[in-house]
Amino acid sequence: MLVLGIETSCDETGVALYHSARGLIAHRLHSQEKLHAEYGGVVPELASRDHAERLLPLVRRLLADAGVALGDLEGIAYTAGPGLVGALLVGGSFARALAFARGIPALGVHHMEGHLLAPLLEEERPEFPFLALLVSGGHTQLVEVSGVGRYRVLGESLDDAAGESFDKVAKMLGLGYPGGPQIAALAERGDPQRFRFPRPMVDRPGFDFSFSGLKTHVLNTVAECAGPDGLPDEITRADIARAFEEAVVDTLAIKCRRALEETGLPTLVAAGGVAANRRLRRRLAEMAGELGRRVCYPRLEFCTDNGAMIALAGCLRLAAGQRDDLQIRALPRWPLESLPPLET
Ligand code: KG4
Ligand code: ZN
Repeated sequence: MLVLGIETSCDETGVALYHSARGLIAHRLHSQEKLHAEYGGVVPELASRDHAERLLPLVRRLLADAGVALGDLEGIAYTAGPGLVGALLVGGSFARALAFARGIPALGVHHMEGHLLAPLLEEERPEFPFLALLVSGGHTQLVEVSGVGRYRVLGESLDDAAGESFDKVAKMLGLGYPGGPQIAALAERGDPQRFRFPRPMVDRPGFDFSFSGLKTHVLNTVAECAGPDGLPDEITRADIARAFEEAVVDTLAIKCRRALEETGLPTLVAAGGVAANRRLRRRLAEMAGELGRRVCYPRLEFCTDNGAMIALAGCLRLAAGQRDDLQIRALPRWPLESLPPLET
């Protein structure tokens, strides 16, 4: 079954073609990073308008490059949530209209299910069951995954998501949006010994996270070290970025280790934008290695938002016969555990 996938939940327009037997055929992405950069974060109305302008040309180019005709499509998968409602509606109405016109099914996909299944796009695919660390701009979750749609959330962030804390700390340090990659680059030059920030909630039992206290700690340090322009000098900023990154990476790795030990799951999957962080990838690989477990990630470009993960998740469900009614689904909030399991 050949499925077109469409992702428009936030600030990336992502499209892809996935075939149930042949795998990923093609994918394309338009990032709105530059559009939102001057505002220091995503402006929802601008995001929706840009998706509306970009989506059709992007799909046309995707099909042309792959030599696929509209008539070859057998299903359409679109992100139905969670995300920005206006942005979701653009992808949802496009997908629904195209599917209706072609007489093929369309299915609303859960964005975080896309992220957690993204490692299935790689050659070294994880096998079920596995433990998934989902770390994006909006979510931080540890999930026991026993199959497609069989998810048990073991823990999640009680306040800021991991990616959100990267973005907020980036702002404090005078860096642009999105903050994660810029913090990571600055941290490379930082001294890991100069500051030590707290590892939140690691002393408490369970798998929940909290990043707002760490954020406040960084804010206080920035204020203490600030020069006349309100910012610490370049070297100090790099040292702060490094200490912050170390604290987040350590906290995530400690909770993952605990969850692997307690569940006995053989594999750890890390996905979502923050899983593109190289220090996190290294640390999780070391930790899993010590426990004799496997770790799987999507390639870097499939950690952040993309159409390929939506095409894959939608194709698995469509090929198994799952169907939506004709409604356009746009669910800004949508619990992962409410998804129907896929019969295997
Ligand atoms: O999954 P994603 O693209 O979008 C959401 O679903 O939210 O994640 C975006 C988040 C942003 O907060 C961004 O700062 C963070 O992922 N991010 C990173 C890195 N690359 C992206 N955080 C840390 N290190 C990175 N290299
Ligand atoms: Zn995402």
